[in-house]
Amino acid sequence: MKPVKVGLLGLGTVGTGVVRIVEGHQEDLQNQTGSPIVIDKILVQDASKSRAVNIDPGKLTEDPWDIIHDPDISVIVEVMGGIELTKGYILEALARGKHVITANKDLMALHGPEILAAAQEHGCDVLYEASVAGGIPIIRTLVEGFSSDRITKIMGIVNGTTNYILTKMTQEGTVYSEALAEAQQLGYAEADPTSDVEGLDAARKMTILSTLGFRSNVALEDVDVKGISSVSREDILYAGRLGYVVKLLGIAESQDDFISVSVQPTMVKHSHPLASVNGVFNAVYVFGEAVGETMFYGAGAGEMPTATSIVADLVAVVKNLKLGVNGKQALLTYKLKKLKTDEQ
Ligand code: NAP
Ligand code: HSE
Repeated sequence: MKPVKVGLLGLGTVGTGVVRIVEGHQEDLQNQTGSPIVIDKILVQDASKSRAVNIDPGKLTEDPWDIIHDPDISVIVEVMGGIELTKGYILEALARGKHVITANKDLMALHGPEILAAAQEHGCDVLYEASVAGGIPIIRTLVEGFSSDRITKIMGIVNGTTNYILTKMTQEGTVYSEALAEAQQLGYAEADPTSDVEGLDAARKMTILSTLGFRSNVALEDVDVKGISSVSREDILYAGRLGYVVKLLGIAESQDDFISVSVQPTMVKHSHPLASVNGVFNAVYVFGEAVGETMFYGAGAGEMPTATSIVADLVAVVKNLKLGVNGKQALLTYKLKKLKTDEQ
C-alpha cells in the first residue's frame, strides 16, 4: 500500500497533537483508510527550537515551498494560523492539486468562499472541522446530520479561552489578566488573544456555522460583536446574586429569509444547561424546524481535542482518495442564497 504523504504547516499546540494522533493511532487509521499516513515534512518558523514531540529533524523546514511544491505530498494540513500568507500557501497548494485541511477560522470566515471555489476548480478537498469548537464535530453535523432539516437557530459557547476566563472569575475569583495568562499557558488562546477576548474569534466561528447551517452567505461584517474585556468581577457577582452566570454567547437566527448573528456576554439562568458549560468546554445548540432542539458539548480548544478533528478530516480525505471522489463532498456543493439585510 502506497503511503499518503502529508505536509504539516505548523508544529505548535495543534500541530503537535496532529503528530501524536497520526503516529499513535497509525494502525487504526490505516485500517480505516487502507493506506499508511505519513507526515513527511513540517513547516516551522524556527527549525532549531526544541519540540514537545520527538520529530526527525530532517522533516522540519522553514521553507513553505519545499512542502507545497513537493509532488509527492498530496495533503496539506495547515495549523500555523494567520491570514494573508496562509491564504497564499493554501491557494498555491490547491492549484497543484493538493487537498487541504485547516483549523484556521480566521481564514475560512474571511476567505472561505474563495478557497472553496479554488478547491472545486482543482478537484480538491478543503475540510475545516477543527476551525469551530475544537473537538466537537459540529461542521460535519450541520452539513450532513441536518441536511434534511431547515435550521432556524444556532446558539452557544464557541470560544474556549473566554469560557475558561469567565469560569475562573466566577468560580475562583481569579482576576481577568491571570485567567487569560492561564488560558494562554494551556494553549487555548490565539497568538493574539485580543481576538478571543474581544469576541472576534467567536464571531468568525459563528460566521462559519451560520453560513453552513443556514446555507446562506453570512459575512463576518454582518455579525454584531462584543467581547468580555469589559466584564468585571462585580458584573459576575451581581449576576450571581440574581441567579445568573455570565457567558460569551454566539446567537444566530434565521427567520423569514432574514438572518441575525451576534456574539456578546449574556446573563444565563443557573438552571440553563449552558450555565454549567465550564472551563475550555464549548456547547452548541442547533434548532431545526423538524428536529427541534439539539445540543453538542465538548472541549472547544487545546492540543488533543483540536487534533482529533483535524485527523478525522485527514481520514475523510484519504478515504476520498481511495474512492476517487475528492472535491465532490457536500461542503463544496452549497448553492448559497443571498443574505437579506435590513436595508433590502
Ligand atoms: P501555535 O501554537 O502558535 O503554533 C503555530 C505553529 O506555526 C508554530 O509551530 C510556528 O512555528 C508555525 N508558524 C507560525 N507562523 C509561521 C510562518 N509564518 N512560517 C512558518 N511557520 C509558522 O498555534 P496553535 O495554537 O497550534 O494554532 C494553530 C492554528 O489552529 C490557528 O489557526 C488557530 O486559530 C487554530 N486553532 C487552535 C486551537 C487551539 O486550541 N490552540 C484550536 C482550534 C483551532 P514555530 O514553532 O517555529 O514558532
Ligand atoms: N482560541 C480559540 C478558543 C481556539 O479559545 O476557542 C479554538 O478555536
